[in-house]
Amino acid sequence: MANNIVIVGAQWGDEGKGKIVDILTEEADIIVRFQGGNNAGHTVIVDGEKFVFHLLPSGILHRGKTCIIGDGVVVDPEVLVAEIEVLEKNGKFDPAGLLISQNAHLIMPYHKTLDAARERLRGEGKIGTTKRGIGPAYEDKVSRCGIRCGDLLNESVFRSKLKSNLLFKNHYIETMHHGDGFEVYEIYNRYMGYADKIARHIQDTSLFLDKAIKANKKILFEGAQGTLLDIDHGTFPYVTSSNTVAGQAATGSGVGPTRLDRVLGVIKAYTTRVGEGPFPTELDGSDGEMLRGKGEEFGATTGRARRCGWFDGVAMSYAVRVNGLDGLIITKLDVLDSVKEIKICTEYSLDGKTITDLPTELDILKKCKPIYETMDGWDKPTTGIRTFEELPENAKKFISRIEELSGVKAFLISVGAGREASIKVVEPFG
Ligand code: IMP
Repeated sequence: MANNIVIVGAQWGDEGKGKIVDILTEEADIIVRFQGGNNAGHTVIVDGEKFVFHLLPSGILHRGKTCIIGDGVVVDPEVLVAEIEVLEKNGKFDPAGLLISQNAHLIMPYHKTLDAARERLRGEGKIGTTKRGIGPAYEDKVSRCGIRCGDLLNESVFRSKLKSNLLFKNHYIETMHHGDGFEVYEIYNRYMGYADKIARHIQDTSLFLDKAIKANKKILFEGAQGTLLDIDHGTFPYVTSSNTVAGQAATGSGVGPTRLDRVLGVIKAYTTRVGEGPFPTELDGSDGEMLRGKGEEFGATTGRARRCGWFDGVAMSYAVRVNGLDGLIITKLDVLDSVKEIKICTEYSLDGKTITDLPTELDILKKCKPIYETMDGWDKPTTGIRTFEELPENAKKFISRIEELSGVKAFLISVGAGREASIKVVEPFG
C-alpha cells in the first residue's frame, strides 16, 4: 500500500502532469507542490471547462482536499491572489483547502525585471526562461537575502528586508541594466495588500504534513517542470532554477525521504521541449509540425510553440535512474493514433560509438544522434478506450516496448485531455 506518492515529469516538462495529478487527487487527502513557481502551467479540463493554474496545485478543484504550496516553491503573490480570485468567482475556492509554507520564498517585482534583463543581455546565449522571476528568486534564497511568505505576517520585518534588498537590487538594475529602480513604499503597499488576502493560509506546512503522515493520510507530491530541467541533473545551463527530481519532494516539503512510498514519472508518448537547449530527438520538418499540431503543443504559461520530437528512450532511462521511478504514467498516446510509422529512440550514437546513458555535459549531448526503432502505428482512435486490453495491438506493443526499455511498468495511460480519457493499469495508491 502506497500512501505517499511523488509525481514528477520524466522529460523537459509539459508531460501532462496537471491532468494526472487531478485524477490521482480523487484518492488523495493532501496535494503538495514542492518546487518551482508560476513558470509551471497546468491545464485541467473538468466537465468541459478549462482551468489553467500556474501556482495553485491542480488538486484545488476538488472539495475537501488540502492543497499545500511547500517550502521549496517560489511564490509570486500577485499570481496566487489572481488564481484564488478566479476560483472564488466560479464558486470553486475552499479557503480551508489551501496552505502555504511560511518558508516558501516570495517572487518580488525586481526578480521579474532581472529575469527579463538578463535574458536580453544573454542575447544568442539566452536560456529561454519564462521571465517570471524564478531564477532571481532562487538566487536570493541561496544567497540568503530572499524574503519568505512568513515575512508577510510581520509588517516591520517585511519592510526592513525589502529596504535592504532594494538597496542592492536598485543599484544593480540602474547601473548594470540601465533600468528604473523600485520604491520601497510602492512594493510594501502592494505586498501588504496580498498579505491581507493570503495571510490566513500561511503556516508551518512541514508540521502539518508530519501529523498527516502519522494519521495515515494519503499524500500526493506534485512536481513541476521535468527531470531534464533539474538544476543539478538536467541539461545545464538550459534548465530551471530548482531541483525537479523526486528527491526534492522531501526537501521541498519538509518531509523525510523515508516517508515517500512511491515515485511515478509522467512521460509523453513523444517528446517536447520549450526554450533553448539540446534535444536529441527533435524533429525540424513535417513530422515535428504534425506532432505540434495534433498534440496542441503550445505552452500553457507563455503560449510559445513547443519543440517536438520522437520518444527518447535514453532520456527516459535517465529519468528512471535519477528519480528512482517505480512506474510510468504515459500521456498523449492518442496523439499518435493516426501516425503510420512511429519512432522510438533506443540509443544514441556518439563519435561512432553507441551509448545508452544520457550524458549531461552540454557539448557531449549536443553531439549525440538518436538511433531509432520504427514501429507500425495503429491507425485507430484510442480516446474512447478505458482498458489496456481494448487498445489496438500496435499500441500495446508500443507501451510494452517503453516498459521494456525503462524496466518499469506503466501504471496509467492517458488517451485524451479529459479526466475520463484514462486507462488505469496498476492502482497508483495500491
Ligand atoms: P525558468 O524556469 O523560467 O527560469 O525557465 C528556464 C527553462 O525552463 C526554460 O527553458 C523554460 O522554457 C523551462 N521551463 C520552465 N518551466 C517550465 C514548464 O513548466 N514546462 C516546460 N518548460 C519549462
